[in-house]
Amino acid sequence: MRTVRNIQIFENIPILVRAALNVPVENGQVVNDYRLRRAVPTIKFLMERGAKVILIGHLGEQGTETLEPVAKALGRLISGVSFFRETIGERVRGAVRSLAPGRVLVLENLRRNKSETMNGRAFAHELAALADIFVQDSFDTCHRLHASIVGVPALLPSYAGLLLEEEVHELSRALAPMHPSLAVIGGAKFSTKEAVLTTLLKTYDHVFVGGALGNDFLKAAGQEVGKSLVSNADAGAIKRLLADPKLVIPVDSLVIPAGAVGTPGARAGARVAAAGQVRSDEIILDHGPGTSALLFSLAQKTKTILWNGPLGNYENGFAAATDSFARAVASSGAHSVVGGGDTVAAIENLGLLPHFSFVSTGGGAMLDFLAKGALPGIDALDNRVS
Ligand code: 3PG
Repeated sequence: MRTVRNIQIFENIPILVRAALNVPVENGQVVNDYRLRRAVPTIKFLMERGAKVILIGHLGEQGTETLEPVAKALGRLISGVSFFRETIGERVRGAVRSLAPGRVLVLENLRRNKSETMNGRAFAHELAALADIFVQDSFDTCHRLHASIVGVPALLPSYAGLLLEEEVHELSRALAPMHPSLAVIGGAKFSTKEAVLTTLLKTYDHVFVGGALGNDFLKAAGQEVGKSLVSNADAGAIKRLLADPKLVIPVDSLVIPAGAVGTPGARAGARVAAAGQVRSDEIILDHGPGTSALLFSLAQKTKTILWNGPLGNYENGFAAATDSFARAVASSGAHSVVGGGDTVAAIENLGLLPHFSFVSTGGGAMLDFLAKGALPGIDALDNRVS
């Protein structure tokens, strides 16, 4: 992979950098800047060599949000950052022309323009027209077939940023784990996890499925899951994975009456249900202490731990399973690789980030990379039509 280290001339050269700017913003403030901190090394590398850095990225799914608070938060990490309210067009080209070498211009949310997600040709050409060189550092979006991911690199000499290089290196290593090894996949939607589970079952000694994903497996194992969130995936595919003795499912669950969901006392009314003991009017929101103990003992015996996705309904305060596993990994001494927005936020809230060997900035991108060993946005860097 060609990286920014292979660029020959920097001084006064406009370089378009696609970065992971999709960070949580509440009331106009960035509330977690982990991705921005990880974006800094590439930006600094280019600034220090006198390039004009044009930073592009997206925020939110629909493109309604502005990147202005993100640019401000980045400006607290490095000096010389300014924000421009548009993404393409003559005024942007003018701002790039007057940008001083060694400074950064953050452009407005790419997804304000629908052509970004549709990989519109004209939009990709407009972006490419802003610079002489393209740098891809947004590992988190390399699974998307968007203009700034696969369109622009076909039009400009393209290089990987330092973060992208590190992500590929670390996640490739995680695909060949030291044994014994443990993979833990949480979150929801079986359809987005089937491929990675299939790959991990070939290489990992234990593959635990938790969170709402775990519900699908409990159901496929013939257990009552009450009103719990399950996906409408093909039961045959889940059963095929379940038949692998390396696949591990929760042995108990934290449940509440379905009617109590969203009420203030919901957590206080929770009970632990042993395997198969969930009632038809209950809902699983976390796994129980028996499962946490099982994961703890697996983690202590393991040399490699790979983890993506929360193990309970984390965003609604059912965090015990996720927090307990974060502590288990941190104390295990294993080589640990973790990713996914909520998972990383949980670890950061516990102050445990320094105890993990590698923390990916990718969620879905990490899963896709692990499943296939490649991503469209990475392949696109090699495919420029000259
Ligand atoms: C993420 O947060 O997972 C990435 O930034 C991708 O965002 P998207 O799901 O909106 O494409």
